[in-house]
Amino acid sequence: MTQLKRVGVLTSGGDAPGMNAAIRATVRACIYYGIEPVLIKEGYKGLIENRMKSADARSVANILNLGGTFLKSARCQEFRSKEGRAKAFENIVTAELDGLVVIGGDGSFTGAMLLQEEHGLPCIGVPGTIDNDIYGTDYTIGYDTALNTVVEAIDKIRDTASSHNRLFFIEVMGRDAGFIALNTGIASGAEDILIPEQEKTIENFMESLQKSGRGGKSSSIIVVAEGDRSGGVFELSRAVEENFPEYEVKVTVLGHIQRGGKPTCFDRVLASRLGVAAVEALKNGDSGIMVGVRDQQVVKTPLDRAISKHNQIDNHLMKVAQIVSL
Ligand code: F6P
Repeated sequence: MTQLKRVGVLTSGGDAPGMNAAIRATVRACIYYGIEPVLIKEGYKGLIENRMKSADARSVANILNLGGTFLKSARCQEFRSKEGRAKAFENIVTAELDGLVVIGGDGSFTGAMLLQEEHGLPCIGVPGTIDNDIYGTDYTIGYDTALNTVVEAIDKIRDTASSHNRLFFIEVMGRDAGFIALNTGIASGAEDILIPEQEKTIENFMESLQKSGRGGKSSSIIVVAEGDRSGGVFELSRAVEENFPEYEVKVTVLGHIQRGGKPTCFDRVLASRLGVAAVEALKNGDSGIMVGVRDQQVVKTPLDRAISKHNQIDNHLMKVAQIVSL
């Protein structure tokens, strides 16, 4: 067991619902194990600008149910340079931090890995992103809430789509990954789902639209992942309008609404588990790893693997999507 006196916690990259629950769990696990928690504002930017504050159990009261991150987050350009990281490390030494918990996505983990390699600071990653694109965990914090937000939005669009016999292209987030699109597409009864993991051109899409006709359906919902490589929602909509004038086509980009809102029960529990696991990992002497959940168990994955590998899209789920959209 490593003797730890002070541990810092920050959130970095795109915010995700449940990050507050993860901060709370990290702070309280520190206190439970006799460690002084230190809150760092605005991610790596706050490290460079020395915006740190010691916390107690009450510092994180009443944040469990809130979306966003009360520590604020940033994508910090300066931390990408060696000089920026050295500046951050000077402040870490002054603040006497023995370890750092980084809640964020793959960009944030790259920063943590470099900080550890260059300066020897033990860093633990906690996966927080709505994209669910981090290797080494079945679920990232925020993903479940985003899924529910998207499904609720698409249900509403379905009401108006069917009232007017329209075809809607709905763009959802996910960066280069199609997890949000595939799962929300199935859950909202989408007629087609376009994701980056699947090679599909606009022509392929048009062919399947031609073949399927609309089979007596009064409306159609096509869920498109933002990283899809067939041309994007506006290109797709133009192509359908040109080739199938019988369709009245609309486009909705759901955008940042997907990142907000109260975290679901699932995300709050996941975040609480992983915040505690991160502190326990530091106590255990781990460094340069991410804590995640696989098959209901907490597991550790080296940060370089978490960043460089990708979770695979479940092919059976793809087939399910095809079958249930008939
Ligand atoms: O990684 C989370 C995410 O919301 C992605 O799904 C999206 O591509 C990106 O962040 C948007 O980033 P920003 O808020 O910086 O525009």
